[in-house]
Amino acid sequence: MLDIVVKNAKVFHDGELKELEISVRDGKIYKLSKIAPPEQADVVVDVGGRIVLPGVIDAHVHFRDPGFTSKENWYTGSCAAAGGGVTCVVDHPNTNPPTIDPKAFRKKLRRANKLSIVDFGINGGVTSNLEMLERLKECGITAFGEIFMAPSTNAEPLDNTILRKALEKISELSLPACIHAEDGEIILKAESRFDPTNPMYHCLMRPPEAEVEAVVKVVNMVKDLDVKLHICHISTEDGAGMVRNAKYVGMKVSCEVTPHHLLLSEDDMLRLGGMGKMNPPLRPYTHVQKLWEYLRRGIIDIIVSDHAPHRRIEKDNVFDSPPGVPGVETMFPLMLACVKRNMIPLERVVNASSERVADIFGILGKGKIEGGYDADFGVYDMKCVGKVEGEKLHSKAGWSPFDGFDAIFPSLVIRRGEIIYDEREEGGIVAEKGSGRWIGE
Ligand code: DOR
Repeated sequence: MLDIVVKNAKVFHDGELKELEISVRDGKIYKLSKIAPPEQADVVVDVGGRIVLPGVIDAHVHFRDPGFTSKENWYTGSCAAAGGGVTCVVDHPNTNPPTIDPKAFRKKLRRANKLSIVDFGINGGVTSNLEMLERLKECGITAFGEIFMAPSTNAEPLDNTILRKALEKISELSLPACIHAEDGEIILKAESRFDPTNPMYHCLMRPPEAEVEAVVKVVNMVKDLDVKLHICHISTEDGAGMVRNAKYVGMKVSCEVTPHHLLLSEDDMLRLGGMGKMNPPLRPYTHVQKLWEYLRRGIIDIIVSDHAPHRRIEKDNVFDSPPGVPGVETMFPLMLACVKRNMIPLERVVNASSERVADIFGILGKGKIEGGYDADFGVYDMKCVGKVEGEKLHSKAGWSPFDGFDAIFPSLVIRRGEIIYDEREEGGIVAEKGSGRWIGE
């Protein structure tokens, strides 16, 4: 007996769209064929010639749970993921308690198991907890980080000596080290020079040089180590250029970019105020153009949301608002709208949102529509371009810096063979709380 058969679809397989039928058994893709095998199926879905893309893996979310559940929790965050075609997320450690020891890890795992409707990984935090890193690995974390080199939301930045020791330890543990690359000293110096009533204050206080310096520092720091370095949310031309150079000389370095650094620039600060504040901040447009080029060329490996929700009321002015913007539900739909405008090929967006993410983070059995893989996919109608409306998204945040932007949202999202989002249903979500599964099992 099959769980589900998807018919009348253009399926993204082997880097291109092909007319195929997908049959699913026990949550995994059983066959991709011109005609599905004539076995009985629980559900048969005719998607009316729409495209079927791999379920997106968002390797950088902050679901705020435990600790900051007035901003988000594992249910609301995962519903937002599902509504944006994301079937697997990796949550970062700056929760309360921070995920820096096995006890905190287990607490987060219990919350996610109870509430998440998408599959999930959990990252381990790095502070001065060096003796905990091995134990966190034994717990089944996906990666270490984000590891902060400068202050950010509920984050303890590491000084260079501890950072080096942590990276030595992580190199023995063979998991990726995800670095939030901004140089704390440059930020401190800049802070004293600028007027906090200036709406551009945040961008000026965390200048591009802070990112470049931090990337240079951390890349040099690992030159003699066998460590998988992953630079989070790259936002500058020279930061990304440094990653490119490190790749050229054969280092194991990868990096990610967010839709906000691709689709907004510091020119949007006046319009957005606190809603445009995040770390690293929005950059001048010349950087944005370069990020697109590097993403198209694969120098920037992956796209993540850095979903960092705060309540609307907290984001009223730039100076007081905490940094971070929601994004897990809009990430892929915005990128598909960019595909439609020929800004980037579909294959690159799909690769950067699924297969390459699975590669970097060692997420097995996900990231491709391929026999034996988890049956995770989203169904899209590329003719159906909608608009982002922050209030209608599933995150508790209830706002988006992309209000009014074009986006192609999924009509149906399937996770391990089960429909979890169906646009025809009220609110779209049709999954049971807690039906998401930990990828560390
Ligand atoms: O803007 C940000 N917000 N950057 C981070 O690194 C952390 C995040 C958050 O958790 O709010």
